[in-house]
Amino acid sequence: MNMHEHIVILTGAGISAESGIQTFRASDGLWHEHRIEDVATPDGFERNPALVHEFYNARRRQLHDPKVQPNAAHLALAKLEREHPGKVLLVTQNVDNLHERAGSQNLIHMHGELAKIRCQQSGLVYDWLDDIDTDSICDCCQRPGNLRPHIVWFDEMPLQMQDIFRALEEADLFIAIGTSGLVYPAAGLVKIAQEEGVRTVELNLDPTNNSELFDESINGLASQIVPAFVEQLLNSTQ
Ligand code: APR
Repeated sequence: MNMHEHIVILTGAGISAESGIQTFRASDGLWHEHRIEDVATPDGFERNPALVHEFYNARRRQLHDPKVQPNAAHLALAKLEREHPGKVLLVTQNVDNLHERAGSQNLIHMHGELAKIRCQQSGLVYDWLDDIDTDSICDCCQRPGNLRPHIVWFDEMPLQMQDIFRALEEADLFIAIGTSGLVYPAAGLVKIAQEEGVRTVELNLDPTNNSELFDESINGLASQIVPAFVEQLLNSTQ
């Protein structure tokens, strides 16, 4: 890659799988253990906020687990950004904080973040790594019942889509890593990239729903194929 190339990277649950974080649609995935409508929709939260808080508390607690660390794939993406400052935008569907902990800075969490909570009354977003429940009191309202996970649920609008579309317009390369390509608008980004004449590469354990939309599709474990691909990018001169 030359110094001028702009890269947009989209990651999904597959990049965190080797760090011990469950993906969603594998046979042992989160959506096989919980009903999306119960724990990942506004109606589900309305119906049973305690159940939803517990679902996200359990996932947030994982962020404290010393066994859950950024893996070689997260670290490789942070290295790519360090070596090409201002040229790499990392868009993640993941709500864990492994990209930040690996050192990535130019990062968009389009589905929100486990390590943040939001007041439904004021809209204020707080850094938060502890459990929350229906009795938790937010600084802004000074009373319980207004706090929710800062997570984008189904039927809600993902965050910073305009920033993502704008970055795609300037991109020379779009890389999708560890995502099944089933949830929109994230799954539609490859098509937009293609229409913008951007080179598209998919890195995933196995072929996905979107594989044939990519110029290139590389299969394998993220901890192996992502560092290899980043080294190739950093060493190639055009
Ligand atoms: N290395 C590379 N890829 C992997 C690995 C691995 N070690 N393990 C799993 N994968 C791949 C799987 O093959 C699959 O294609 O990661 C992908 C994970 O797919 P999903 O479980 O569907 O996760 P994701 O694509 O991130 O889901 C998108 O759906 O439920 C919503 O909001 C949630 O952000 C999530 C969105």
